[in-house]
Amino acid sequence: MKILIIGGGGREHAIAWKIHTDDPKTIIFAVPGNGGMDHIASCVPLDINDHQALLGFAIAHDIDLTLVGGEEPLSKGIIDLFSGNGLKTFGPTQKAAQIESSKRFAKDLMKNYDIPTAAYQVFDDYEKAIVYIDKQCLPIVIKADGLAAGKGVIIAMNHLEARTACQTLLKKHRYIVVEEYLQGIEFSLMAFVNGNTVVPMAVAQDYKRVGNGGKGPNTGGMGAYSPVPSISRGTITLAVETIMKPIAKAMVDEGIPFTGILYGGLMKTPTGVKVIEFNARFGDPETEVVLVRMKSKLVDTIFKILNHEPLSLRFAHNFAVGVVLASDGYPNDYEKGKAITIPQISEGICFHMGTQLKNGIFVNSGGRVLIVVAAEPTLALARKKAYESIASATNESLFYREDIGL
Ligand code: AMP
Ligand code: GLY
Repeated sequence: MKILIIGGGGREHAIAWKIHTDDPKTIIFAVPGNGGMDHIASCVPLDINDHQALLGFAIAHDIDLTLVGGEEPLSKGIIDLFSGNGLKTFGPTQKAAQIESSKRFAKDLMKNYDIPTAAYQVFDDYEKAIVYIDKQCLPIVIKADGLAAGKGVIIAMNHLEARTACQTLLKKHRYIVVEEYLQGIEFSLMAFVNGNTVVPMAVAQDYKRVGNGGKGPNTGGMGAYSPVPSISRGTITLAVETIMKPIAKAMVDEGIPFTGILYGGLMKTPTGVKVIEFNARFGDPETEVVLVRMKSKLVDTIFKILNHEPLSLRFAHNFAVGVVLASDGYPNDYEKGKAITIPQISEGICFHMGTQLKNGIFVNSGGRVLIVVAAEPTLALARKKAYESIASATNESLFYREDIGL
């Protein structure tokens, strides 16, 4: 079996690690991959935006299954291209990927199919947006319609901030979504989806802000843990039955069925579970803590979903905590090429998010550099193990949050 993974972050390292752990005989290629995947995958230095080159590579190497990590290739139609050329993939078409690439598409679909989410309006005009905002409660959330690499959501605390947010986002995006501010507990629920079939994974929680206690700007995610004790089995069932299954069915009914990993960014609010956003792919860093707990084989699971075979997923009864080590300065400017040491961990693993191997030494090549994941019988123990492992490796040019899993 030959698998092609497109991407080179911690999520793709975790996917490669899981496939290799399930069956070390599987041949894995990763484009571009990263320094930490070298021993389990052949890293191929192609441009992930050059879909024709990727297709040529997949055909030449007889790839049996292609998995796409990030949203950009999906939103540009890589799955349409690969499946149109007879290659097997597990991911959404360009149209179905709109569930992530267009907030407007996602919100309108939820509204039309009564899927619980924050109240909203879509605008392409600044003045109209302001008239609406002036009648709403504060804070208020303003979102870019298109992909914005984590920079498309502004929570405005007052009307001045809201005006600036509308101006800024409307300069770069044709539409903005102005949305009610929800309060509650956020969690991420990823599911294997094929048309109407929805098989949920264990839930996780992501830490989006850069600083301890949720302070500072948003990042790609500074850590995660799974499962989430404050999200009960009943809440998860409710989320699957009232959100994940209905949205999959809605997409089938609209003639744009979704295949792949559907990620629900959800919030448990006093008035029920509501959708904050959908992603059309594995979450990062949630995947790193969910896949280490998954007992079912990943590739088998995907083929069963694709073939509409019965499927029950199994997860270990443990807790996984993942702490991200980021380059000093992230999410703003940071220096690249600094030597780093890789923390060693028993009962866990260190996934590489942004590293390169240069002359036998690992150096940082991205904002988020490593994620140390510990899996233990309790959350407290997993947390302790992850932080002990980080403390034992000297990495003066990297920083991390101290409250992951607290
Ligand atoms: P998104 O890119 O849509 O995931 O938004 C980034 C983060 O902004 C989310 O993880 C939430 O913490 C926050 N956020 C987005 N929409 C809302 C909302 N309607 N109410 C409260 N917080 C929100
Ligand atoms: N952790 C959020 C995301 O993957 O978009």
